[in-house]
Amino acid sequence: MAMKTFDAPLFFERKTGAKIPSVGLGTWQAPPGVVGDAVTAAVKAGYRHIDCARAYDNEAEIGRALKKLFEDGVVKREEMWITSKLWCSDHAPEDVPLALDQTLQDLQLDYVDLYLIHWPFRCKKGKRGFNPSDFAPVDIPSTWKAMESVYDSGKARAIGVSNFSSKKLDDLLKIARVSPAVNQVECHPSWQQAKLHAFCNSKGVHLSAYSPLGSPGSKWLKSDVLKNPVLNTVAEKLNKTPAQVALRWGLQSGHSVLPKSTTEERIKENFNIFDWSIPDDLFCKFSEIEQGRLIRGNFLVHETLSPYKSVEELWDGEI
Ligand code: A2P
Repeated sequence: MAMKTFDAPLFFERKTGAKIPSVGLGTWQAPPGVVGDAVTAAVKAGYRHIDCARAYDNEAEIGRALKKLFEDGVVKREEMWITSKLWCSDHAPEDVPLALDQTLQDLQLDYVDLYLIHWPFRCKKGKRGFNPSDFAPVDIPSTWKAMESVYDSGKARAIGVSNFSSKKLDDLLKIARVSPAVNQVECHPSWQQAKLHAFCNSKGVHLSAYSPLGSPGSKWLKSDVLKNPVLNTVAEKLNKTPAQVALRWGLQSGHSVLPKSTTEERIKENFNIFDWSIPDDLFCKFSEIEQGRLIRGNFLVHETLSPYKSVEELWDGEI
């Protein structure tokens, strides 16, 4: 049978010449005290991509780890791809450069490789945004203009979005001077994002997958993605772990994956996905997996105080 398996690239190259390393270390829910060691272990294992965000409250520790890695000559700054994200409380155009400056200060960097609008949602300055009384009107075009300015300044070498539906991305593309390079979204075998993926491909926007393992350890989500029978059958046949198969499926589907781990053994395991592939007959089986979003964004939904009165509206029906 003809093999439809792709080479899983170490990088996804953009038309701008930027090369996004295809596996990045996720740092959401990586607590202070361990996240620095996780970054160090990841870089030593070969990772060249770290996915950060101001809202994860751990950028300063990541910055200290990166500084030491650079000083010790383990890796050079220019070999790394560092992403960070603008939190919902900093969408006001005048706050965007300040938020990025804070991130750069914490990460001890002169620039990030990619800066993303974390959610298509806004809350009052200084607030986390989980309380409806803190919600504020969303104005993506004005926030995006400020993102374009930080791009022009060179402090963000690429800009993009996260948690945008096809419609929200399309609306942005219509007004953007600098097109978003990336849409970072939940994506794993149990939420494959087929529609969004096709839309991103058609517009030259790279899709990057957060929670590519379905966030099994999360205290907020009830996830059994790694227990899926298809995933486990494929893993058994290939003599790999379900996590490795989930990640390899992502690479072969054409998107980068951002697995989070603070366990050195798993950090290594999650990077050991380049010298084998899922053959076509097994790859096809992923289409049988029942689909469902884990991160529904209910905390951003409110009848009167949010621009999104329902989860359907938040995702424009992509649920
Ligand atoms: P830990 O950090 O203790 O290793 P996601 O990237 O989808 O959000 O998933 C992250 C969760 O998956 C974390 O709880 C992490 O735990 C766990 N995890 C990471 N790598 C693996 C792996 N190879 N096998 C099983 N669980 C993993």
